[in-house]
Amino acid sequence: MNKKVAVLKGDGIGPEIVNEGLKVLEIIEKKFNHKFETTELYFGGASIDKFGVPLTDDTLNVCKNSDAVLLGAVGGPKWDNVDKEKRPERGLLKIRKELGLFANLRPTKLFKELKNSCPLKEDIIKNGIDFVMLRELTGGVYFGKKETKVIDGFAVATDEMRYDENEIRRIGVIAFETAIKRNKKVASIDKSNVLDTSKLWRKIMHELSEKYSDVEYEDMLVDSASMQIIKNPSRFDVVVTENMFGDILSDEASVLAGSIGTLPSASLGKTKLGLYEPIHGSAPDIAGLNISNPIGTVLSVAMMLRYSFDMESEAKLIENAVEKVLADGYRTTDLYVEGTKKLSCSEMGDKIASAIEYNN
Ligand code: IPM
Ligand code: MG
Repeated sequence: MNKKVAVLKGDGIGPEIVNEGLKVLEIIEKKFNHKFETTELYFGGASIDKFGVPLTDDTLNVCKNSDAVLLGAVGGPKWDNVDKEKRPERGLLKIRKELGLFANLRPTKLFKELKNSCPLKEDIIKNGIDFVMLRELTGGVYFGKKETKVIDGFAVATDEMRYDENEIRRIGVIAFETAIKRNKKVASIDKSNVLDTSKLWRKIMHELSEKYSDVEYEDMLVDSASMQIIKNPSRFDVVVTENMFGDILSDEASVLAGSIGTLPSASLGKTKLGLYEPIHGSAPDIAGLNISNPIGTVLSVAMMLRYSFDMESEAKLIENAVEKVLADGYRTTDLYVEGTKKLSCSEMGDKIASAIEYNN
């Protein structure tokens, strides 16, 4: 199969982790006789330095004409003081919006090999942790009207939080459909005791839950959900929530997997074109040292093969290779504990690539 992949390495550790993702992609290409045509493009701070904006129209057009986008991470202290409209993060929000990627899938899975890296007690994790967070990605307070002005001598800032029923319904449908393929449970998270957007969210989710009567459904308030993720993570299968709650809760959930460095994500819309990125940031403090963890990016490549290219066996092969390398005791610095073998970022990429090459 022939597929076009736009590659946005971004800033900080972005380039080094994406290089390992591409290494894995090349092995899959050879092993399965696919053709992956990759186009590297400037993005985030790197694009600000080169073109003055985090995402140019040209870059956006190449992405729109690709089958998938593979992204590293954006941002860093160097661009902290640029005009807010031009910050690296703006590029990320713009590309999500322009590509219509309203559904962000963030799986949280604790590999049994990493049990010791999970900060929770043995008793809490004995039933395993394996859930998917579905974060709405193109609405809510992230995209509402923003304003800062002075009223009667005082500075006043406003961020509008807005959702319409269609935006809620389409992410809800994905949540229920995802649950059907998993353990048939959906937890919808809101703040309906305070917010109107949450009341509407809950109403639409209830309508859907009546249609999907095979799926066990529960509502949960976001404050309580943040406790449940720590107290009883095994209860979750599919978690669906709005943009900002999802941003916060997915970082919380990532800690359960041992290191945020291991977690991938997929951002999907109405078409097959998706954007794939690890959920961690650009970690400027360790950039260029070759000590970052490429697993989140490698697993994002697996999600790309699964969701954008319908290559399930190729995706599984990558996921199995990651588990094998961990089972063999190899770890990057973030996961290293005594008794394991420490690898650099590129060595971890090599190990995963050869596990793919020599296994079926
Ligand atoms: C994420 C990040 C972004 C977000 C930032 C960098 C804008 O935290 O993907 O979770 O808040 O969506
Ligand atoms: Mg975040």
